[in-house]
Amino acid sequence: MSTVKRTVLVTGASSGIGRAIAQLLLTEGHQVIGVSRDIKKFITPHPHFSVCEMDFSQLSTLAAQVKLLEKNFPTLDSAIFAAGYGRFGSLENFSYAQINDLLTVNFTSVAFLTRALLPKLKQKPQANLIFIGSEAALQGKRKGSVYCASKFALRGFSQALRDECSHSTVRVSLINPGMVETPFFDTLDFAPGEAEKQHLHAADVAAAVNYILNSPPHSVIDELNLSPLQQVVSFKNKSAPRDFKQNQPDLNV
Ligand SMILES: NC(=O)c1ccc[n+]([C@@H]2O[C@H](COP(=O)([O-])OP(=O)(O)OC[C@H]3O[C@@H](n4cnc5c(N)ncnc54)[C@H](OP(=O)(O)O)[C@@H]3O)[C@@H](O)[C@H]2O)c1
Repeated sequence: MSTVKRTVLVTGASSGIGRAIAQLLLTEGHQVIGVSRDIKKFITPHPHFSVCEMDFSQLSTLAAQVKLLEKNFPTLDSAIFAAGYGRFGSLENFSYAQINDLLTVNFTSVAFLTRALLPKLKQKPQANLIFIGSEAALQGKRKGSVYCASKFALRGFSQALRDECSHSTVRVSLINPGMVETPFFDTLDFAPGEAEKQHLHAADVAAAVNYILNSPPHSVIDELNLSPLQQVVSFKNKSAPRDFKQNQPDLNV
């Protein structure tokens, strides 16, 4: 008898939070479809793991790709949206193309994908949509205008959709992590503090996803905020880490 329980699409499955989610869900016996712009990044085969190439900056391709996914994986009943990236700085230092791309990848593509998936999900006996938001969805901070806007949009979208889906089998949830140690920071000039209390692990967010998936079907975890015990941001060009609680915080992720 197959041990497979749910069929879950995981975006951003090639790295960081999405990767940890995909790994945990496979361990839990679910079937996982991992999304990346480059499926060659998935090197470890697993009998319940399939791959799918999508670029969330290319909105016009998404609806057709979902149709194909649904054809290939008719049992698909959940999606976890962990793809995204950060770009920070004063607004006037963004090009118009950079503003557009950050909002497209972090928010509009999520709305497109959800729109395409929803009709079939509503026909499933149980279904979950889980969005990875951010602490940046909770409070705007300087140098984060566009990133925060993308995450605030995602939070409003999630709240409204959760209400809209309350008469269906689809449960909509949002997880807002604080700083998580992942390759997200590789291209940024800051990172979480290195001490154990100063960052989350990607596995912590994956555990939150698992908790949401396993919650009793009559309940919904609407929103879950998850932070490192100490909120410390370490600037790569400056020596001392800065404690969010003691100094004027000027970044969130
Ligand atoms: N790390 C943190 O501190 C933190 C905190 C709060 C929220 N978050 C959020 O968590 C999510 C995941 O971040 P992470 O820390 O796991 O970062 P990460 O390790 O850099 O992973 C980002 C993932 O997003 C995918 N991605 C990026 N652009 C894409 C595009 N145009 N099309 C398709 N996929 C794309 C990447 O896939 P490919 O490159 O393979 O295409 C990769 O798998 C993001 O939404 C981020 O905003 C992160």
